Amino acid sequence: MRLSRYFLPVLKETPAEAQIVSHRYMLRAGMIKQQAAGIYSWLPLGYKVLKRIEEIVHEEQIRAGHIPMLMPTLQPADLWRESGRYDAYGPEMLRFKDRHDREMLYGPTNEEMITDIFRTYVQSYKDLPLTLYHIQWKFRDEMRPRFGVMRGREFYMKDGYNFDLTKEDALHAYNRHLVSYLRTYERMGLQAIPMRADGGPIGGDYTHEFLVLAETGESEVFYDSAITELRFGNRDIDYDDVAQCQAILEEFTSRYARTDETHDETLFHQQVPEERRRRARGIEVGQIFYFGTKYSEPMGAMVVNDKGERVPVHMGSHGIGVSRLVGAIIEASHDDKGIIWPEGVTPFHCGIVNLKTGDAEADAACDAIHDSLVALGLDPLYDDRDERAGAKFATMDLIGLPWRITVGPRGLKNGVVELTCRRTGESQELPPEKAVERIAQIYGKALAEA
Ligand SMILES: Nc1ncnc2c1ncn2[C@@H]1O[C@H](COP(=O)(O)OP(=O)(O)OP(=O)(O)O)[C@@H](O)[C@H]1O
Ligand SMILES: [Mg+2]
Repeated sequence: MRLSRYFLPVLKETPAEAQIVSHRYMLRAGMIKQQAAGIYSWLPLGYKVLKRIEEIVHEEQIRAGHIPMLMPTLQPADLWRESGRYDAYGPEMLRFKDRHDREMLYGPTNEEMITDIFRTYVQSYKDLPLTLYHIQWKFRDEMRPRFGVMRGREFYMKDGYNFDLTKEDALHAYNRHLVSYLRTYERMGLQAIPMRADGGPIGGDYTHEFLVLAETGESEVFYDSAITELRFGNRDIDYDDVAQCQAILEEFTSRYARTDETHDETLFHQQVPEERRRRARGIEVGQIFYFGTKYSEPMGAMVVNDKGERVPVHMGSHGIGVSRLVGAIIEASHDDKGIIWPEGVTPFHCGIVNLKTGDAEADAACDAIHDSLVALGLDPLYDDRDERAGAKFATMDLIGLPWRITVGPRGLKNGVVELTCRRTGESQELPPEKAVERIAQIYGKALAEA
């Protein structure tokens, strides 16, 4: 992509309404535009990151054996009357009537709808286990939408639902989700710590929230600092292996880590030596839940078991905040010049800065680098505008591409260009084809690991 032909409305001024760094940078880098409180357009650069995150979520869900589908954003109120949640949900639910006076709502989540789909088609235990998921826009009329896409009213979420014959099977589905989430967040360059969360009215121990530590996070968290040393890494996982998934759950959740809702000061002191006790803030980027027959019973989602009895299925639901993640990644990865994208989610693999647009040699070298990267299946952003070098560097730093190739007539005389790492600021001079090779290696390696 050539910047002169792209749509990247970068702002020079820091928007006054943005209180936290991710919101400021997303506005300044031309990633989003607010259309109403908590409702955003995703401009091309923001859209690319959102789609990249969505792709990773899909890949890891499919790897875990979960099945993608798509449900609508609009739902009939009657479904929610069946579960009793239509009245319980409160003002966060956006309700309206269609032209025939039918009561409708913009879905804040999909337990009822997926349960309806399940009961329509599945009658036998032989069709279990089953986990269906979708990635779809949700609407919650939040009291205080703020921090840009972190707490929107309209937001993009992956929500998955497991259907199992027994509680034991449903807990394996829970573990499978936990394992797949650990992998998902790490691929985005994030450490998201599973923390024991509040079971709410449903009760029980079976819910974890995944939190990214950040001062601007809305949740207060308490944890054993030893947890931050855990890495999922590039492990071979067999998602059907019950013992393996259980062992990973234990590895990642046996140490103390809780949100303020479930925090127990006495237990914290008993379980964690003083020097490892941490109290901090975190951003909730996902939550998993086992809730048994809460929806299957009232809504009649039953299967016939091997004894010929009709029993309600055991269910759970599992969410990832796809649009919130864009902000969370920036909170976790930036400096005073702008965003620093982890390679896994970057909107473009590398930037190319032409120091002297109009110089025949520099133009030709940039074109060649651009075309070779594209031929390798990579997606570079080439700043071919007739601008000062300083302005080009500032834009590249702000939009946070992890690698930059700088091309100028002086370097070309010596047969070299400059390759710069956004994160460390380190530069290295090398021949253009070597720079291309290096970028290919970086992403080739990343792709092979994925
Ligand atoms: N208003 C929102 N804007 C953006 N993302 C959200 C919003 N509400 C929830 N999410 C994301 O969707 C995920 C799954 O939704 P869930 O129902 O668990 O949200 P929640 O617990 O109500 O979130 P919160 O406590 O932040 O309001 C959350 O972990 C979060 O990452
Ligand atoms: Mg939650």
